[in-house]
Amino acid sequence: MPSFVASSLFTASLGIWVQAASSLSISSSQCWHEYPFSTVNLQSSRDGNTYNIDHIQVTTVNPPSYAPWSYPPICTSILESVGDKLCVYTNTSFSNNRGISLFTTPSIAAHVLTLPPFQSPSDLSDQAINANSGAWYLSQLPGRGLGLLATKPMVFKDRVTAYTPVSIAYLETELSTMEREKFWRIAVDQLPEKSRSMYLDLATVYGIEQVKYQDVVKANTFQMEVGAKNHLAIFPETSRANHGCAPNAQYYIDPNLLTHFVHATRPIEKDEEILISYTSPLESTANRQDHLSHGFHFKCTCSRCTDTSSDAALASIQSLQKSLNDWSDSSSGSPALAEELLQLYRDEGLEGFMDVPYGFAALAYNAVGDEDMAREYAGKALELGLMKDGSWTISAQIWREMLKGPSGHWSYRMRML
Ligand SMILES: *[C@@H]1O[C@H](CO)[C@@H](O)[C@H](O)[C@H]1NC(C)=O
Repeated sequence: MPSFVASSLFTASLGIWVQAASSLSISSSQCWHEYPFSTVNLQSSRDGNTYNIDHIQVTTVNPPSYAPWSYPPICTSILESVGDKLCVYTNTSFSNNRGISLFTTPSIAAHVLTLPPFQSPSDLSDQAINANSGAWYLSQLPGRGLGLLATKPMVFKDRVTAYTPVSIAYLETELSTMEREKFWRIAVDQLPEKSRSMYLDLATVYGIEQVKYQDVVKANTFQMEVGAKNHLAIFPETSRANHGCAPNAQYYIDPNLLTHFVHATRPIEKDEEILISYTSPLESTANRQDHLSHGFHFKCTCSRCTDTSSDAALASIQSLQKSLNDWSDSSSGSPALAEELLQLYRDEGLEGFMDVPYGFAALAYNAVGDEDMAREYAGKALELGLMKDGSWTISAQIWREMLKGPSGHWSYRMRML
């Protein structure tokens, strides 16, 4: 039940939802469109004879002006902080009738329609997105609610899940809680029944029925950039993955495919729980506890949360990274230090976060002129970065560049001069 919302969104306005409930007045800002009907007369000609069928009146329905949305968009008035109105847009046939609802600005909705999932829907099915991967099943776990368990042994890089969100909502703090609830409710209620019920079956934080739709988001959302703005997205299947301090899986969101991917980052046994991290595992134990209890409302009990020895490991990681990042003549940076750093990450169970140490290793080997090892580690840094951040990051460009020819990189033989 991951949630990466600035918790102020909900808590700041939660206090006033009771008052707001009695003064709901959003009907004035709805913008329904009339459904356009037209009547046409058909004429048909056959065998050279003309059959007059003028008497048959055929009523056809033109494609609604709001296509490809399944319902007339329903909008707020202009929100000052957004600089535009926000509207609910639902396409119920999206991705083989999974459906998708957006609550966003008209221009961001228009942008979403230019993305591959709408322009070429087979991109999703070709990549088995929104298909059951067969890698996981849901199970009730003692004291932890539902969790995702492995149906079969998995290895590094195996895909666990790949799903598009059923709902995406612009991250704003201007609407009152009850107004927001009203729009989010429309967005979710317009979804196909299967997706709607998956959404409503998700865990909540507060258990307050009147704000149920936001409560689900509070407990389950992933932030997702759409049209360069933060949105709160709900991926009902993936939301069942619990938090791990030393997780065996890593996720990233592909903004072009609108898809949240989860991959195994180390071998996972059959029936082992699949975990992702809700916080940066490289933060101190106190910071992680704080974030999990305030942002996610649970006390983290995994060993890296309760045993502060992980803080000592983090201090060593930082100090090694500092040395490896020192390019002065007196630097102690070396391949041996880089290998030590890699081992520390493995010992902490942070295989899913090793893009950084792999990158340091690539540089450290290149700096002593070992092109083969530099290439090998640049490849690993790239591979891990793709599983963690996607393909459009600056570091992905750096490692791709180095893979073309380590000797052309600035770091080549830097520590041999
Ligand atoms: C929903 O979007 C798909 C494209 O992904 C389109 O083929 C379909 O017609 C849309 N549905 C409606 C109701 O317009």
